[in-house]
Amino acid sequence: MKTVQILFIVTLFILGGKYVNAQLQSSSDQIINIQHRDTISLNGQWKYIVDQYENGYYNYRYQPIDQQENASQVSEAIFNDYHPVNKSERVEYDFDLSGELTVPGSWNYQDEKLFYYEGNIWYRKKFDYNSLKSAKRVFIYFGAVNYEAHVYLNGKKLGMHQGGFTPFNFEITSFLKEKDNSLVVKVDNKRKKEAVPTLNTDWFNYGGITRDVALIEVPETFIRDYKIQLKKGSLNQIDGFIRLSGNKLAQSVMVSIPELNIKKEFTSNENGLAFVQFQLENATLWSPENPKLYQVEISAGESKIMDEIGFRSIETQGSDLLLNGKSFFLRGICIHEENGIRSDRAWSVEDARLLLNRVKELNCNFVRLAHYPHNENMIRQAEKMGIMVWSEIPVYWTIDWENEATYKNAEAQLTDMITRDKNRANVIIWSVANETPVSDARTRFLTNLIGKTRELDNTRLVSAALEKHTISENPLVFAVEDPFAQFVDVLSFNQYLGWYDGLPEKCTRSTWTIKYNKPVIVSEFGGDAKFGVHADKDTRWSEEFQEELYIRNLEMLDKIPQLRGLTPWILTDFRSPRRLLPGIQDGWNRKGVFSEKGEKKKAFFILKEFYNKKQKAYFIGK
Ligand code: GCU
Repeated sequence: MKTVQILFIVTLFILGGKYVNAQLQSSSDQIINIQHRDTISLNGQWKYIVDQYENGYYNYRYQPIDQQENASQVSEAIFNDYHPVNKSERVEYDFDLSGELTVPGSWNYQDEKLFYYEGNIWYRKKFDYNSLKSAKRVFIYFGAVNYEAHVYLNGKKLGMHQGGFTPFNFEITSFLKEKDNSLVVKVDNKRKKEAVPTLNTDWFNYGGITRDVALIEVPETFIRDYKIQLKKGSLNQIDGFIRLSGNKLAQSVMVSIPELNIKKEFTSNENGLAFVQFQLENATLWSPENPKLYQVEISAGESKIMDEIGFRSIETQGSDLLLNGKSFFLRGICIHEENGIRSDRAWSVEDARLLLNRVKELNCNFVRLAHYPHNENMIRQAEKMGIMVWSEIPVYWTIDWENEATYKNAEAQLTDMITRDKNRANVIIWSVANETPVSDARTRFLTNLIGKTRELDNTRLVSAALEKHTISENPLVFAVEDPFAQFVDVLSFNQYLGWYDGLPEKCTRSTWTIKYNKPVIVSEFGGDAKFGVHADKDTRWSEEFQEELYIRNLEMLDKIPQLRGLTPWILTDFRSPRRLLPGIQDGWNRKGVFSEKGEKKKAFFILKEFYNKKQKAYFIGK
């Protein structure tokens, strides 16, 4: 092959690469607050084709068909939803004759053949489009797709998104037809070394379109993103922004809070950005005891949006945590985004209430949403119920630290998480990682993520779930010896004394020495017990063993002077392919204080009693 040809092909691939990066980049142009926009839901029954060898995407030379402009391969390209027009044509797939899956929902629980399936499935939704309000522009929005999504409308590629737990949207105005639109999504949940999360996790890799899908209608120039929150360290100064998208970027923008008789006008600049600053008088600040939300209305020309926003300040002072200037204790629990009764990803308001009502039964005021951004219904319901939130990106265990693309991916997920939830008063901590092995490359990776977090939002606290170490020759003295600990606002660590490390009695002989003058959150502790299995307290897997483990751990941890919060592992038993003990685990991690069906184990009562005492000790009052 001549040099020129080789050069051309190389250029093509580089261009192809650039194209993908641009697409990847564009998906962070999130449109926030879907709940209060003009939308048309595309939830419901979608056709699907299992394409394990990605034959509908790669040609037999394993080159992606959608990046080659050669029409000759239309019939193979499943994203074209092509139907033969004459009897001699060869087309080897047909959505119309294929099965259906419910969206939102993973494929794993809907089709027994797909329970353990990790791979590629094509989804297709047909829809007619009648504009709600003669919208000028239309976007397609996905709450989340696990893990990699390639999206096509009427055969046109809209873009690609990586990351199973963050929203993305693409503009479709110019591709829409009135009748018979064909929306095709290639979904691949294969685990990869360079991905985020990477190959090994302790949760079930539910695949599919797992959250809401909707058409969003907006005027030509519209309010895409905004932040209306208190300035860092202030109890009455609003400091935020409003971002417009469209042709008329420089214009007047109004912010009003009717209940507080606030009506303020600002002007957006040539980039569509308006800086918002004003005094907040006589406002009731958001707190777990009084989760007050205000209707906030933002308008710019034809574009109007309302949001329910709470105002509060969150800070640290030495080892104290201050909410609205008052010291408090985080009575927390970890949660996975799973409805154990349906054995599927949780996504709806009902799913959120199911889990959060259990949190309330425990007398908690805080949840650690592990280990990835949960759906927006969970965050907003928690805000209404007065439950504070730790939100985390799945930088979990052994990520590919030296891989630039992996870092970009993690940073994109972080950006999307903060963009979506930065107006939620109950979100108080952003976490950039969980149980990551100490190394220079890792610490660099995480420190860069912290830098990005503070750049995007300096009003909240930053942390990560670190690991414990023994520091001296005395194996019963524990500490957190991690170079990354200096960069976090709240020092959080996971420890499993009594389960992975010794038996519960070891807690009584162990002590902690934490050298940091920072608030401490023990972000995980616990052990497995199968609901209904009863024995003496030394018998592993029994409720009595777990109960004893909680008693001893709470006693031990309560002695840490800087302790300001706990999030035991975990609220409810959850699915994990790593948990295989027959008759006990059967594919479930059994560390819940509730079973997956919501049955309370003995440890539930120990933890609740401990939190009742803590609540009295830290009574803030209204
Ligand atoms: C780890 C990890 C969890 C896991 C838990 C366990 O610390 O962070 O994701 O499920 O321990 O072992 O049960």
